[in-house]
Amino acid sequence: MKKFIVGNFKMNTTLHEFAKYLDEFLPLIKDCKNVVALSIPYTHLMLASQKLVATNVVYGSQNISTEEKGAYTGEISNLMVKDLGAYFTLVGHSEIRKKFRETNEQINQKIIRALSVNLKCILCIGETRTERNSNKTKMVLKKQLEVALKGLYENELKNIIIAYEPVWAIGTGKMPTVKEIEKTVEDIRQIIMDMFSQNSAEKICVIYGGSVNQNNCTNLLKIKNINGLLVGGACLDAKEFSNIVK
Ligand code: PGA
Repeated sequence: MKKFIVGNFKMNTTLHEFAKYLDEFLPLIKDCKNVVALSIPYTHLMLASQKLVATNVVYGSQNISTEEKGAYTGEISNLMVKDLGAYFTLVGHSEIRKKFRETNEQINQKIIRALSVNLKCILCIGETRTERNSNKTKMVLKKQLEVALKGLYENELKNIIIAYEPVWAIGTGKMPTVKEIEKTVEDIRQIIMDMFSQNSAEKICVIYGGSVNQNNCTNLLKIKNINGLLVGGACLDAKEFSNIVK
């Protein structure tokens, strides 16, 4: 089955650097069968819309506003991102949850906005180190999922990708063991089953993120029930990211 491999650029690269990156990256992955997705700064969406036509790469934004338009200085809406051909948006990344105090309720509003214009959502969820140490991982993920997906119809889940990213594994070089990830993904599917159905629990796309690199990606992709990877730091090097994709 095709894997869904996402590169999250975060706040990295100027437009010029991104153009150079694509020139190097695209030829390297042109025969790859996996789905490749780039989560890029807003300022790069227009260029992506030109450079990625007729390639096997889709692109999207790293966030959107809870609102559609109006007096929200500094915000970017679902419509603006969609207008530039985005296929998806990330929502609920832990850096936004933490640094901008984004709540599960706001994430729910963003998801509803995204789906209303046919943007898929990569919903990031994950526990902190303290939460894991006190055995609260499942409880935390349950709360994140229940609130973020509140009010969604079951058939909308096909437009949701769940990215399990333990907060303590992001950018740290640390990560849970393969067994722990497998168990957590099982828990995530169980929560989806309780909220929706067995069928949705089996079908929903769940990917793993947090310190993924070219050395550990093969083992991670072998984990039962994992449909792909969300790669931060390691996606900024075109050669390394192409190795992961391949
Ligand atoms: P990392 O980031 O791969 O650098 O740990 C992942 C992410 O934040 O999406």
